[in-house]
Amino acid sequence: MTSKINIVLLCAGKSSRLRFNLPKVILPINGKTLLERSLFNLNKLSPSKIVVVAGFKKDLVINLVNQLDYPNIECVEQKEQLGTGHALKKASSLLDENSVSLIVNGDTPFIDFDTIKSALDDYKKNKSVFTIATSTPASPFGYGRILRDNEKQILDIVEERDCNSQQRLIKEVNSGLYLISTEELKKYINKIKKNKNSEYYLTDLVNIFVRNGMRVDSIPIKDERKFININTFDDYRKAHDLDKMFIYEECIKKNIFLADPNSFQKDLEVKLSKNIYIGANVILKGDTEIKENVRIESNAYISNSYVGKGALIKPYTSIESSQIGPDAQIGPFSNLRPESNIKNKAKIGNFVEVKKSEVGPESKVPHLSYIGDTKMGSKVNIGAGTITCNYDGFSKHKTNIGDNVFVGSDTMLIAPIKLGKGSTTGAGSVLSSDIPEHSLAVTRIKEKHIKNWKRKPKK
Ligand code: UD1
Ligand code: CA
Repeated sequence: MTSKINIVLLCAGKSSRLRFNLPKVILPINGKTLLERSLFNLNKLSPSKIVVVAGFKKDLVINLVNQLDYPNIECVEQKEQLGTGHALKKASSLLDENSVSLIVNGDTPFIDFDTIKSALDDYKKNKSVFTIATSTPASPFGYGRILRDNEKQILDIVEERDCNSQQRLIKEVNSGLYLISTEELKKYINKIKKNKNSEYYLTDLVNIFVRNGMRVDSIPIKDERKFININTFDDYRKAHDLDKMFIYEECIKKNIFLADPNSFQKDLEVKLSKNIYIGANVILKGDTEIKENVRIESNAYISNSYVGKGALIKPYTSIESSQIGPDAQIGPFSNLRPESNIKNKAKIGNFVEVKKSEVGPESKVPHLSYIGDTKMGSKVNIGAGTITCNYDGFSKHKTNIGDNVFVGSDTMLIAPIKLGKGSTTGAGSVLSSDIPEHSLAVTRIKEKHIKNWKRKPKK
């Protein structure tokens, strides 16, 4: 059986029950749209193709797809919203013959990789033509009900509005994830007929296969909360809480202590190891990774960065596109701009800005400094108020500081400049030429003391 996966994401619907007059897939849940969430999870399967069906206000969906920059993705238009079966038909001609198609409703944003993976394994094992995911939520209201025969074989799916009173009591529902041999899909998709509601239901494929003597399999969903579909405003509101709950549950599993679970914001892509402390109002964005035993105190903002084992990030620290080595200490009130590389056990203190610089192992920049375009060795000490003057008004220049350098307070290092290893600078010096190893550089004028000096009297 082929292992090539094609994905169809159905996003063309009018989302009329939500009353926002927008395609629901572009709505954010805690900062990430439904579409981004679905694609993030689905892309873990390394599909050879993803087809997004867009229709209602299609440009909003297509623009978002284009911004996300996934490989092998394309959009197809469903001009008139004539149902999920009709939407699937629009996508079907784009699907690869020799593949298995995974069809997912675009309004199911938490759909998890584990469930999809087990559906796929089951699909391959059973050599099925068609496998659907089912669950038994606390309230089946609004979902299509699963009809089975006495041998528990699936016969049909009946939508809420088409159910008779008996069928409405059925607890098992269609979760909106389908695996189907693309070959059979192409063969049977045209057999879906317009129903009495003037729609083409994707779910009618079940009965079509059964009538043609083919078996339809199902896989049960372990956590039905992951298959919540956003139809109403109430579903949308609940999804925000649910997302927080999933983050909280992940943290509990990994022994991550959240000082205030409500205020913690974490993007989908963020990777957290075990045994971490996270203070109140911490925000972790984008491609960020936090290793074991890290402590991130309140109000820290970290985006697209790596924080090594045992590092301490003190309050009100901002770190962007940077690397923090193991056991380093940053903050409070530090600003690490892109391409800062702080090595193990280094310390960056309060009111220090670092940009495009490497700070070597065990080096310290404890207070009130600007370090830009600098390469600093190990065990360097930078005095308070030091500035690497990297910009002459036209271009940026580099500062190179060797191991064991001691920079006195309020030193201006006018780049390009090189401080040889073990060198020292006198406090308040303005330096513009390279300093030899193990020497002292000082530009201070000679201190004078004028005796019996009387200040002019105040008027
Ligand atoms: C659908 C299923 C139902 C299932 C539920 C699970 C059908 C007929 N019903 O119902 O059995 O229990 O999902 O979540 O499939 N869409 C289009 N074009 C259209 C209509 C819809 O692309 O013409 C898209 C929507 O944008 C949405 C998805 O298909 O992302 C599902 O549509 P929706 O109207 O929400 O279906 P449900 O009524 O929830
Ligand atoms: Ca839905």
